[in-house]
Amino acid sequence: MSGVRGQFTTRAGFILAAAGSAVGLGNIWKFPYLAGQNGGGAFLIIYLGFILSIGLSVMLAEFAIGRRTKRNPVGAFRHLKGGAWTAIGVMGVFTGFIILSFYSVVGGWTVAYAVKSATGLMASGDAKALGAAFGAFIGDPVEPIIYHALFMLATIAVVARGIDTGIERTCRVLMPVLFILLVVLCVRSLTLPGAAKGVAFFLSPDFSKVDGAMITAALGHAFFSLSLGMGTMITYGSYLARTTNLPGAALWVTSLDTLIAVMAGFMILPAVFAFGFDPGAGPGLTFITLPAVFSKIPFGAFFGVLFFVLLAVAALTSAISLIEVVVAYLVDEKGIARPKAALSSGIAIFLLGIPSSLSLGIWNDYTVAGKGFFDAMDYLASNILLPTGGIFISLFVGWVVFDKVMDGNQGGIGDGFRYVGLWRIICRYIAPLAIAWVLISGL
Ligand code: TRP
Repeated sequence: MSGVRGQFTTRAGFILAAAGSAVGLGNIWKFPYLAGQNGGGAFLIIYLGFILSIGLSVMLAEFAIGRRTKRNPVGAFRHLKGGAWTAIGVMGVFTGFIILSFYSVVGGWTVAYAVKSATGLMASGDAKALGAAFGAFIGDPVEPIIYHALFMLATIAVVARGIDTGIERTCRVLMPVLFILLVVLCVRSLTLPGAAKGVAFFLSPDFSKVDGAMITAALGHAFFSLSLGMGTMITYGSYLARTTNLPGAALWVTSLDTLIAVMAGFMILPAVFAFGFDPGAGPGLTFITLPAVFSKIPFGAFFGVLFFVLLAVAALTSAISLIEVVVAYLVDEKGIARPKAALSSGIAIFLLGIPSSLSLGIWNDYTVAGKGFFDAMDYLASNILLPTGGIFISLFVGWVVFDKVMDGNQGGIGDGFRYVGLWRIICRYIAPLAIAWVLISGL
């Protein structure tokens, strides 16, 4: 089996692919509005604290499980211990399925907005009109579903081609493109007259905004942003060569993800402040407030297209990693050929996304547990399944298979990791307790 299993060809290729997974709508769409709603710098500081204290450790735990077992999450848990632990892997595959179904709907919006920016969306700078246009678009029964289909097709096409020629090559091209677009847009935003107010908001913490809900949001977002809790990083780690240093790789991926989230803050918040818009606008910040900003700057349509292309690229490299968990499971465990696995799971995920999209329009009245279908899927995945996965992945590594994942001769972390003791304490106690607290207070 290991003979036909794909592998990343270089360390840089692996880091870019894992960073591609981590950097996504979470960084560019969600992080700036969360910071905008939660006291700017205060949110940033707490978020950074969680990334360093917990995120980095859980990422290392996932990489180590993956490389040690060379299997998809279901196979990995079964191989290391089996029994009830296998359920964590099953839950991961299921979670990937759910997250991608609504993530791809939003991915489709980014593609649609790249097209619309080029064709006159930014003609009006009126945030109200833009808000109405956005609401009409996402509530339309047909148009967003076509874009959702296109986005899923692109995702399937990449993953069908395998690890090195599909995922690695795509990320090696797209991640530098994403970085360059981000630098261009940051420079544009930071040089607008009045940008300094946004910078001050983002960097000077307003600690009066700190409360339980905000801390919960910061930890939940740290997990989502680093793609943790469902075995994405187990899956990517399973394609990694023995020679790559795992703690170093985890540090790289975490740092790139954080850097890009902070840059997204510097791209969006100064522009929003420069034109006197509300930084606390929430989810509409990207699709409503930003187009209003672009309409007011010279060559705004051009920058608007760049921005939505950036968002689409970030979303695509994350979507790839979500479907790869499902595909790896079908390939490893069920012996299905990769292209067939990619196509069939992609179609099923596309179909599950349709009610999510419709729930923002004509199916507005149908609710699941008091929420629309889209929100119910997001809530189930982000607030329940990912934290639960995170707790059990940490406990599993900390208590059950610590020696196995440390064993360098078998693909584990190996000698020379200076913070083994600290890492073990985090996996055993700190991460599970902190995540459990967030899970419970989120319910
Ligand atoms: N991290 C991505 C983002 O920030 C989303 C993502 C990709 C993800 N794979 C994941 C989230 C796995 C949770 C689990 O947009």
